[in-house]
Amino acid sequence: MALDISCFFLVALFSASCEAIASSDLTCIEKETNKTYNCENLGLSEIPGTLPNSTECLEFSFNFLPTIQNTTFSRLVNLTFLDLTRCQIYWIHEDTFQSQRQLDTLVLTANPLIFMAETALNGPVALKHLFFTQTGMSSLDFIPVHNLKSLESLHLGSNHISSIKLPKNFPTEKLKVLDFQNNAIHYLSKEDMESLRHATNLSLNLKGNDITRIEPGAFKSTVFQSLDFGGTLDLLVIFRGLQNSTVQSLWLGTFEDIDDKEISSSVFEGLCEMSVESINLQKHHFLNISSNTFHCFTSLHELDLTATHLRQLPSGVVGLHNLKKLVLSANKFDNLCQINAASFPSLTHLYIKGNEKKLALGTGCLDNLENLRLLDLSHDDIETSDCCNVQLKNLSHLQSLNLSYNEPLGLKTEAFQECPQLELLDLAFTQLRVNAAQSPFQNLHLLKVLNLSHCLLDTSNQHLLDGLPALQHLNLQGNRFPNGNIPKTNPLQILESLEILMLSFCDLSSIDPQAFAQLKMMNHVDLSHNRLTSSSIEALSHLKGLYLNLASNSISIIPPDLLPILSQQKTINLRQNPLDCTCSNVYFLEWYKENMHRVKDIEATLCANPPLLRGVRLSDVTLSCSITAVGIFFLIVFLLLSTVALIFAVKYFLRWKYQHI
Ligand SMILES: *[C@@H]1O[C@H](CO)[C@@H](O)[C@H](O)[C@H]1NC(C)=O
Ligand SMILES: *[C@@H]1O[C@H](CO)[C@@H](O)[C@H](O)[C@H]1NC(C)=O
Ligand SMILES: *[C@@H]1O[C@H](CO)[C@@H](O)[C@H](O)[C@H]1NC(C)=O
Ligand SMILES: *[C@@H]1O[C@H](CO)[C@@H](O)[C@H](O)[C@H]1NC(C)=O
Ligand SMILES: *[C@@H]1O[C@H](CO)[C@@H](O)[C@H](O)[C@H]1NC(C)=O
Ligand SMILES: *[C@@H]1O[C@H](CO)[C@@H](O)[C@H](O)[C@H]1NC(C)=O
Ligand SMILES: *[C@@H]1O[C@H](CO)[C@@H](O)[C@H](O)[C@H]1NC(C)=O
Ligand SMILES: *[C@@H]1O[C@H](CO)[C@@H](O)[C@H](O)[C@H]1NC(C)=O
Ligand SMILES: *[C@@H]1O[C@H](CO)[C@@H](O)[C@H](O)[C@H]1NC(C)=O
Ligand SMILES: *[C@@H]1O[C@H](CO)[C@@H](O)[C@H](O)[C@H]1NC(C)=O
Repeated sequence: MALDISCFFLVALFSASCEAIASSDLTCIEKETNKTYNCENLGLSEIPGTLPNSTECLEFSFNFLPTIQNTTFSRLVNLTFLDLTRCQIYWIHEDTFQSQRQLDTLVLTANPLIFMAETALNGPVALKHLFFTQTGMSSLDFIPVHNLKSLESLHLGSNHISSIKLPKNFPTEKLKVLDFQNNAIHYLSKEDMESLRHATNLSLNLKGNDITRIEPGAFKSTVFQSLDFGGTLDLLVIFRGLQNSTVQSLWLGTFEDIDDKEISSSVFEGLCEMSVESINLQKHHFLNISSNTFHCFTSLHELDLTATHLRQLPSGVVGLHNLKKLVLSANKFDNLCQINAASFPSLTHLYIKGNEKKLALGTGCLDNLENLRLLDLSHDDIETSDCCNVQLKNLSHLQSLNLSYNEPLGLKTEAFQECPQLELLDLAFTQLRVNAAQSPFQNLHLLKVLNLSHCLLDTSNQHLLDGLPALQHLNLQGNRFPNGNIPKTNPLQILESLEILMLSFCDLSSIDPQAFAQLKMMNHVDLSHNRLTSSSIEALSHLKGLYLNLASNSISIIPPDLLPILSQQKTINLRQNPLDCTCSNVYFLEWYKENMHRVKDIEATLCANPPLLRGVRLSDVTLSCSITAVGIFFLIVFLLLSTVALIFAVKYFLRWKYQHI
């Protein structure tokens, strides 16, 4: 009997009332209170009444509004941004946007427009950005423009437009971007260009139009921020047409699917007659590059020769001595010396990434580039047993070096001695062979960012990170620690300036409470995707204001003594942990509710236990672990019965004892 009662009492005592609230109705998502709403893809055929009149930004794409008129948006008088992509709009009536005086950006992309009233855009006097991409338009006369005094960008890509000539009254004073990509423009006349005369510093995009003819002098004394003729087959046409123009950035690349003919060097003669700062020639084939090919490139500061099938650049190339930035990525060099770097001694930025062959670094191939600040050699299959002093000789001003995604590199002590100014070093996904008890990074006094993710490092080497007094950002993602544990003595302790530490995917199961004791400046710690339990949180007890990522670990219960450590951090992510939502974890669950403002990914922070609550958001769980009235009643009854039972037992025992004296 007593046993039965006590069981009942226990059930009453610990019965938790749990409650999950589901909310998955199809309404617009509020992104900023009373201002920004996302109503994408909800099958709406009108503006929902739930949107407040004060809405300013509205993403309304993938809905159904075949015709729009002055009543459609009339109450949203403060709209500044309206995205109506793919709403099947075909008819835009008179004065449709008359109430939207503040409208700044209107996106009508991918609507099969048939009609647009002359007064459709009369309201928004400050309209700056207008998107008519993929609307089936064949002439610019379709757009009612007379009121658009503030227009800065007009996007007309993927239509059937054949002439870029703007209507007479087109306001071009403020126009900065005119995008005609993928239309049917084959000819540019003087008259066409004349209509753009008042737009200075324009970025004109004609990519994917097969331009076959430009009237001579059409671009004479015009100034462009950028001109994009991407995919044009005959570059000679372009260079002839651009005579006497000034272009900041000229994009002449082509695309994979275009079967272009080889460019002969004489094509570039045209560049002598114009002024250009930056040229992109990606994916072209050059017939024969000689030392004279680039002699008209003297005004150039940037040259992009990505994927131009180069095996080498000849020595003594003239015309590139002013070049500051050179991109030679995705070519076919065998050896770094084949670029003959002496031809461009002013270079500050050099990119040779994704070389199609295994790239040998050679010896001192870049030693003329004493001004080089940035060098990108990622994805080059580079493999060497002793990097990087002979290879990077004389690069004393180098600030940023990218050697990520290469083959194994052997690094000895002071491996970057030749580049004492390095501030960023990226070695991610490159296996590093470091001799034990040595630091390859010795004497990099200015290094701020070091990416060692997935380098298969020997983290038991206590000196691995010696000599980096200024290091702020260290990525060790994907490296392993012996036994999955970061001990008290570890190579990180010396990095006193460290602010950001990434230790995700390190297969960690524990961290010594003192492991980060010397790291006092940290503000961002990523420990996600490990096997950590709550006890590792103790290692962060001396840190405040952290952005702390603990997602995808093995945390289930967080005891009350660890909660103050979480409370002193700024943001915490506990997504994808097997969190316990029973009364054993009640202190943490209470803490969670009070600290939701610090928690990231609330939607994905779910209970794993008890089975009844698996998959329920922590924020939706209400646990009552206190003793209920029924519980108290049974407790009293139980105590009374126990007392009575005890008295009887004592009595019985005493009687039994006396009887046996
Ligand atoms: C949002 O609008 C409602 C109703 O107009 C108002 O009560 C509330 O204070 C507004 N909230 C903010 C953050 O502006
Ligand atoms: C529109 O914005 C103005 C200025 O911020 C404000 O005074 C007015 O109340 C807003 N209108 C609506 C309907 O929210
Ligand atoms: C819309 O246009 C009609 C006809 O021109 C007019 O009667 C009505 O007042 C307009 N509605 C609004 C909200 O301006
Ligand atoms: C929103 O605007 C409409 C039309 O201007 C008006 O009838 C309505 O009362 C407004 N709603 C609120 C909540 O102010
Ligand atoms: C031209 O436009 C670019 C960006 O589009 C801007 O950075 C530059 O300052 C402008 N130059 C002049 C002279 O307005
Ligand atoms: C370019 O300018 C030069 C010298 O000012 C002039 O002789 C030449 O005719 C111009 N070319 C074109 C196509 O206008
Ligand atoms: C390439 O140019 C070099 C030097 O200008 C010349 O000797 C060679 O014959 C050229 N080759 C071809 C295929 O045109
Ligand atoms: C190395 O750089 C120095 C200046 O830092 C320069 O004078 C010297 O010519 C360079 N050495 C070579 C081999 O280019
Ligand atoms: C280094 O190169 C890799 C691959 O090209 C790239 O993903 C990475 O962002 C680069 N690192 C830096 C610091 O730019
Ligand atoms: C290495 O880390 C730096 C700094 O976080 C980052 O910019 C870079 O993209 C990373 N490299 C790779 C290959 O992801």
